[in-house]
Amino acid sequence: MKRDPVGFLKEDMTSLRKDNLEWIIRYLEGGSKPHCIVNGKEVLMLNTNNYLGLATHPKVVQASIDATKKYGAGAGAVPVIAGSFDLTREFQEKFAKYKEVEASLLCQTGFAVNSGLIPMLVGKLDIVVSDELNHGSIIDGVRLSGAKRVIYKHRDISDLEKQLKEAEKGGARRICIITDGVFSMDGDMAPLDKIVNVAEDFGAMIFVDDCHGEGVLGDGKGIVAHFNLQGKVHVEGGSMSKGFGVFGGTVAGSKDLIEFCKNKSRTYLLSTAHPPGVVAANIASIEVAENEPQHVKAVWEHTNYFKKEVQNMGYDTGRSETPIIPLIIGDPGKAQELARILFEEENIYGTPIVFPMVARELSRIRVQMNALLTKDDLNTALSSIEKVGKKLDII
Ligand SMILES: Cc1ncc(COP(=O)(O)O)c(C=O)c1O
Repeated sequence: MKRDPVGFLKEDMTSLRKDNLEWIIRYLEGGSKPHCIVNGKEVLMLNTNNYLGLATHPKVVQASIDATKKYGAGAGAVPVIAGSFDLTREFQEKFAKYKEVEASLLCQTGFAVNSGLIPMLVGKLDIVVSDELNHGSIIDGVRLSGAKRVIYKHRDISDLEKQLKEAEKGGARRICIITDGVFSMDGDMAPLDKIVNVAEDFGAMIFVDDCHGEGVLGDGKGIVAHFNLQGKVHVEGGSMSKGFGVFGGTVAGSKDLIEFCKNKSRTYLLSTAHPPGVVAANIASIEVAENEPQHVKAVWEHTNYFKKEVQNMGYDTGRSETPIIPLIIGDPGKAQELARILFEEENIYGTPIVFPMVARELSRIRVQMNALLTKDDLNTALSSIEKVGKKLDII
């Protein structure tokens, strides 16, 4: 029989649909705000990483407009050729100061930081010791590096120590411990203080992905500030696309690290720089985070209230310690059904999270708090979540 070169496309999609694992994309018809229009109807948004609500903050939006008028819509080149602007330098200096590090670099995305920088920090002669629940972009970065990957049990320091001892015996050139700061599906935090203690004994490099900590933990400065570990973590990867509401990846650390990254990270070297409007909006969002502490305060107030209420209803919120609050259901079909009814009948937008984001048997709806939500919004969401949860026998 003649081979169908693309027959697998349909077959794979049929199998995903059969297993309730298809992603259905809904389209926003306006800004990403708590009350937004999605597929033609107004819904309450409970699932963006825009924790501080800065994606639509007037100062951030204005900065983007002004810079676009002055500099144009696109960068035109990769950062090392002609894609870096005076705005980029300004952002990097400001961000380094905010993070209390020597230097920082604006990269294309958080994903690009992990997939471009990790393979340069470690290679075939090295060992990466990685938390079992690290983000997929870390996993890809480590795969690309060719380094030996050793997994330690999630947030388990004694297992980490055991794996480090093994790694040392193996005579690796470099050992790198790598972890998410805040785990994006569960909302729990890496025990970074303990990791730093253990790493020192082994001369291990520490790479923390602070994508969901920035803007939220440590008064917005991230997980390193949260644990008062300034100067003790070698590489901080991050994202301007989440708590800061705009777009871009970041690297923060020593001047040596940033020079190395500029010259070696393949994603930084080979992919076009951000439009100037994005860079200016990133600058403005850092300024807002510094000057308007009420946003961080609000997101935490909402987090504490909402989490307590859903737990009282009987929902399993797992290990959540941050504004990421999973409602763990288990069965992917039921998680999809909860999300569907919430969206279609209750106008509440919470996305089901299923495999490969999480294990199949830990399917869930992931709720994320946002500084712009009001107490009324939270109560509306809570009463719908309770009603539908009871209807589906989840609680
Ligand atoms: C832990 C973690 N790292 C990296 C990324 C990628 O960041 P970005 O969206 O900036 O590419 C994400 C995005 O979801 C994430 O959750």
